[in-house]
Amino acid sequence: GLKSRRGRSLVNFTPVTLAEGNGPTPSISPDYEYQVLIPWGEPLEPGGPAYSWPPTAEDQRQQIGIGHDGMTFFPIDRRMQEGDYSDRLFRKHWGQGNRHGMLAINHEFGRNSTVLGKDFPESLDDVRTSQHAHGVAVVEIKKQRNGEWQQVESENARRIHVNTPVRFSGPAASSELLKTPNGNIPLGTVNNCSNGHTPWGTYLTCEENFNGYFGATHNKATWTATEEHERYGFSENGFGYGWHVFDRRFDLSDPDYKNEENRFGWVVEIDPFDGTQVPVKRTALGRIKHEGATVTVGKDNRVVVYMGDDQRFDYIYKFVSAGDWVEMRANGVDPLDEGTLYVAKFNEDGTGEWLPLTIDNPALAARFADQAELLTFTRIAADILGATPMDRPEWVTVAPNSDVYCTLTNNSRRTEADAANPMAPNADGHIIRWRDTEEHTGTNFAWDIFLIAQDTHGTEESFSDPDGLWADPDGRLFVQTDGGQKDGLNNQLLVVDTNTKEIRRLFTGVTGDEITGLAITPDRRTLFINTQHPGNGDPSVTNFPAPQDGVTVPRDCTFVITRKNGGVIGS
Ligand code: FEO
Ligand code: CA
Ligand code: CA
Ligand code: CA
Repeated sequence: GLKSRRGRSLVNFTPVTLAEGNGPTPSISPDYEYQVLIPWGEPLEPGGPAYSWPPTAEDQRQQIGIGHDGMTFFPIDRRMQEGDYSDRLFRKHWGQGNRHGMLAINHEFGRNSTVLGKDFPESLDDVRTSQHAHGVAVVEIKKQRNGEWQQVESENARRIHVNTPVRFSGPAASSELLKTPNGNIPLGTVNNCSNGHTPWGTYLTCEENFNGYFGATHNKATWTATEEHERYGFSENGFGYGWHVFDRRFDLSDPDYKNEENRFGWVVEIDPFDGTQVPVKRTALGRIKHEGATVTVGKDNRVVVYMGDDQRFDYIYKFVSAGDWVEMRANGVDPLDEGTLYVAKFNEDGTGEWLPLTIDNPALAARFADQAELLTFTRIAADILGATPMDRPEWVTVAPNSDVYCTLTNNSRRTEADAANPMAPNADGHIIRWRDTEEHTGTNFAWDIFLIAQDTHGTEESFSDPDGLWADPDGRLFVQTDGGQKDGLNNQLLVVDTNTKEIRRLFTGVTGDEITGLAITPDRRTLFINTQHPGNGDPSVTNFPAPQDGVTVPRDCTFVITRKNGGVIGS
């Protein structure tokens, strides 16, 4: 395991106490401070349309989206060169890159009541406002002389939303299953939850609960859900966004837009340094309710992407590139287009297997015509192989010693415990850990349960519903929560010493929010995190980040966190 220096604990800050960690405004350790950055509705760049509520569709297209979630900070430095990005990403010698960078941030969702000020859209224009509030923002940010971070004018700042042109790549790219009879080009990304970043300096955004934006309206009487629709949770009314009523692209019952729904549920690659790049949906990574896409470099310099499918009883996946990522790129092959997708099976004895999802397997060839169809319905392929149903896999992170951690946020419907999901029901979640036999590229692994949330209840280490996760280079594990916390707490950011399993609370959000998204400067002196759905959008609960004495809608925003003594975040 990792040894802390001089035997000191890795986590030495004074934590936020149970008594402090609640209410309509955030609390932070007295050793730290925070600044609010890029609330929903602020202009993407200086000079853009100013915040007003509710926004118009055209303004929202040029403003920060809602539902702040996964994000990555990409440092900007004169010395940065293509190809050596990963080596430098977490090094101290970045200099200017600790004060200046591109921030790519997901905008997972915002309810109509918050975005539009009404529960259901009344026009296509309303739908466009909602669609423009979803997606991704890329902003250029810089630390000012007074220490505050601000957006600056940028060639590459942009909004990517539900109507932005995208393209497909990988084994399913030219499949008929990704074409509609209408012939409309692929557009947009939605419900962008967690994220990842590649060694070559791009951002990965992940489409999670995409099913909820589709419905069946215009030919409702004749529409019935297919097996594939049911496995992915499509239904007549979706989640109540009502897009399908005014935008036929989201109407499952419109024959002109058959297969449109297959165009969502992918991992999407975005170049944060090229505002003109068309985002790429990487089909080799499968179609699931993608939580995140955590990239690491494994044996033989192959890239490995760990991914959770966040639904009760769904699975954990990994993708392994066909070869050395540097060589693949030198040969003009994208490392995320060629490789093997696996799904995890956790055995009762603490061992596990990665099961390859390939059409070469006769059991899968019996169900699917080709690899493209298999990937489009990845969940069904994983069902056939007997993957282990988990308690809602959320984020994955890879520690420097090659331990991999994954949050299993909760599962209210579990009636039978197994070794990997030991609570039934699992009201508060747990964190599982594994180590691959072949440096992330193998077909076997050993695993254990790292933490069970319920064990912390009634103590100062209390947390529930772990979701966001990041292992730092020193052996700290950062844990973010999304769900009903116990002991009177709001959702929170905790730091765990993985040597001792001691947990300290660094930050708590505001009533009704979740704490998510985790990005860091190369020197680890500046941390970015988010509050999502503060007050669940209800101004009578909180007005945050506005002062608490007015009546304004609460807004999702980013927090810039620093240690008062200038130290490494988490120390
Ligand atoms: Fe969007 Fe599973 O959290
Ligand atoms: Ca999440
Ligand atoms: Ca969650
Ligand atoms: Ca969320």
